[in-house]
Amino acid sequence: MAVSLLGVDSLGDVAGKRVLIRSDLNVPLKDGQITDDGRIRASVPQLRALLDAGASVVVCAHLGRPKGSPDPKYSLAPVAIRLGELLGRDVEFVADPDGTPTTGLALLENVRFHAGETSKDDAERGAYADALAAMADLYVDDAFGAVHRKHASVYDVAQRLPHAAGGLVLTEVEVLHRLTESPQRPYVVVLGGSKVSDKLAVIDNLLPHVDRLLVGGGMCFTFLAAQGHDVGGSLLEADQVDACRRLLDSGKIVLPVDVVVADDVAADAPTEVVAADAIPADRKGLDIGPQTVELFRQQLDGARTVFWNGPMGVFEVTPFAEGTRGVAEAIAGLPDALTVVGGGDSAAAVRALGVGAERFGHISTGGGASLEYLEGKVLPGLQVLEGDR
Ligand code: 3PG
Ligand code: MG
Repeated sequence: MAVSLLGVDSLGDVAGKRVLIRSDLNVPLKDGQITDDGRIRASVPQLRALLDAGASVVVCAHLGRPKGSPDPKYSLAPVAIRLGELLGRDVEFVADPDGTPTTGLALLENVRFHAGETSKDDAERGAYADALAAMADLYVDDAFGAVHRKHASVYDVAQRLPHAAGGLVLTEVEVLHRLTESPQRPYVVVLGGSKVSDKLAVIDNLLPHVDRLLVGGGMCFTFLAAQGHDVGGSLLEADQVDACRRLLDSGKIVLPVDVVVADDVAADAPTEVVAADAIPADRKGLDIGPQTVELFRQQLDGARTVFWNGPMGVFEVTPFAEGTRGVAEAIAGLPDALTVVGGGDSAAAVRALGVGAERFGHISTGGGASLEYLEGKVLPGLQVLEGDR
């Protein structure tokens, strides 16, 4: 998707103006605690710039997928606290979903507590967008992770206020654009994650442009099945086997040669490394094995452009983290490559495994958004920013 976006500078002097900014603050929570604050951190620079320029700022964002009404499980309250810590200033948390801010820096409660946010009905979304637009003079979209959503706070509100793309959105689009426009070769893509069905479109779109596509994670088992191997109790999308067979015909796909198997996804489960064509019928493949890490390292050697999306195994559980760590290390160690990590899970994996985020060229805050960008889809949140208002 070719996009020409204007940044916040195009809005002129924002001093004394009320700016509504959409951020992607959709962070993982466990027992009410934020387990990875990467997206909050990524949102800080644009917020700070607006505040420094004298704007009063209303931040809106979503968390999880509540069903269009308030659900305490998905409250942004913990995020407001973390955001305040990172900004070094008080953030007013507007807990009442229908409330309005009273200070110069506020975070609204989860926009998805309103049915209008995600509604398929233009009028219903429009009504909520009207309410959001009434709080501000200007709109900035900095929520790259949500630009593939045609939602009120992403799409409709931009039609109601003078608008601009935030710095994070500009950076993300610039980097992803480099992956689609004459990338330096060899160009190697590494894909993981659980479902082939989620990735088919992006694989189809990328295959003609890449030199190699390395496949790990839960989705590799459907490819292994397409090669005629028995995958035991591993994840298998039986209805995608034919599609995988067709993709394998490209000759560019590299599959695991060994996998870590266990009875269950448990930290204390006894594990074993087996050849990828010898998975026992009663066991599940939960990570790529050490020979595969070595194979992928060789395949990455000399690459000039790398895009990685999706963990290689169930990295959250210690015995199944080594594949993801090994591949992350291999990518991070490439001396002359533009390395891009896309996706909430792979980005979180990099941080959780302590690989060092600064060793990658770019860590995208977008999961679905970065994939849809690379699929060549029109992203509503970007398209609307191009239009005038
Ligand atoms: C994400 O987590 O990918 C973004 O925050 C978008 O969330 P969504 O998939 O629930 O729309
Ligand atoms: Mg998502």
